[in-house]
Amino acid sequence: MHTRTLGRTGRTVSVIGLGTWQLGSDWGDVDATTARSILDAAVESGVTFFDTADVYGDGQSEKTIGAYLADNPGHGITVGTKMGRREAQNAENFTLAKFREWTDRSRANLGVDTLDLVQLHCPPTAVFSTPAVYDALDTLVQDGAIAAYGVSVETAAEALAAIEHPGVATVQIILNAFRLKPLDEVLPAAAAAGVGIVARVPLASGLLSGKYSADTTFAENDHRNYNRDGSAFDVGETFSGVDYESGVAAAQEFAALAADTGLTTPQAALAWIAQLDGVSSVIPGARIVEQAKSNAVAGSAAQLPTQFDAAVSELYDRYFRAAIHPRW
Ligand SMILES: NC(=O)c1ccc[n+]([C@@H]2O[C@H](COP(=O)([O-])OP(=O)(O)OC[C@H]3O[C@@H](n4cnc5c(N)ncnc54)[C@H](OP(=O)(O)O)[C@@H]3O)[C@@H](O)[C@H]2O)c1
Repeated sequence: MHTRTLGRTGRTVSVIGLGTWQLGSDWGDVDATTARSILDAAVESGVTFFDTADVYGDGQSEKTIGAYLADNPGHGITVGTKMGRREAQNAENFTLAKFREWTDRSRANLGVDTLDLVQLHCPPTAVFSTPAVYDALDTLVQDGAIAAYGVSVETAAEALAAIEHPGVATVQIILNAFRLKPLDEVLPAAAAAGVGIVARVPLASGLLSGKYSADTTFAENDHRNYNRDGSAFDVGETFSGVDYESGVAAAQEFAALAADTGLTTPQAALAWIAQLDGVSSVIPGARIVEQAKSNAVAGSAAQLPTQFDAAVSELYDRYFRAAIHPRW
């Protein structure tokens, strides 16, 4: 497993991490035993970075990770959690008092005195240009409640605004073969500033595994069923915001490209992101143990040929650029 520096946290993490939204809710049911086994399998496969949030299962994902950390002293895992989405999404809610309340709950859930990394969880855009927000986050660092902070963003513009702030250690953004906008400015700006990029939704919610067809159905309590129109949260978080039918067709073409790499289709999708300059960690979510194990293999894959890069760009231009590029 290759490792990278996680931006200004200064910590070394695996280039393939683990997203743990699936260990909470919104992806159908993942039972507690499976959730724990996914963490075990990821770490046994070389993963040293977990991404979670206070809102995943209303704390259940954090608590599962907390139990894992408690059972594995000397684990060497870095945990990035997120805060801010348990309240109404008003910029006025992003205060020091709220930050203390939210981080205290995450510290208890994770069983730690100091959070390794807390990320603002896609807050209202105004938050990114509010100096008092960064002052409050700096105070949490001084207090020792958090070791570092970052942001999770919806758009490239929000990422660029956050990167300009010297206290921001990491930026989490959707980045995958169907979401190329961050390559234009965000990755170069982050690399120049020493800010870590955490690439989320790297499989476009599973589309880039190439396993879905037009007839695939998802459980009622799976956001890939109930958020296709963006009625619950930003539609970009579900299938990367691409129209499902186009996504399935493009994924078939992506699978054909991946077939020449010696990797499985999802491994090729992840390795391609991990090999981009400026990316610190790619955080695929896993619903079963086998996915966590297989995804970690992408972190030691050989360099993909430049023709692969060119083919990914061509695919994006043909299917998605017009709808996706101006929006996020
Ligand atoms: N706003 C935010 O900050 C935000 C938003 C979204 C996500 N995130 C973070 O980013 C992480 C990753 O994003 P994501 O989980 O939304 O999407 P993702 O990683 O693009 O897709 C995860 C899904 O891909 C499928 N999959 C994973 N590995 C596979 C494999 N080896 N073979 C076949 N299929 C595979 C599974 O689908 P099936 O369930 O169909 O098997 C899995 O549920 C999340 O877990 C979360 O930690 C953060």
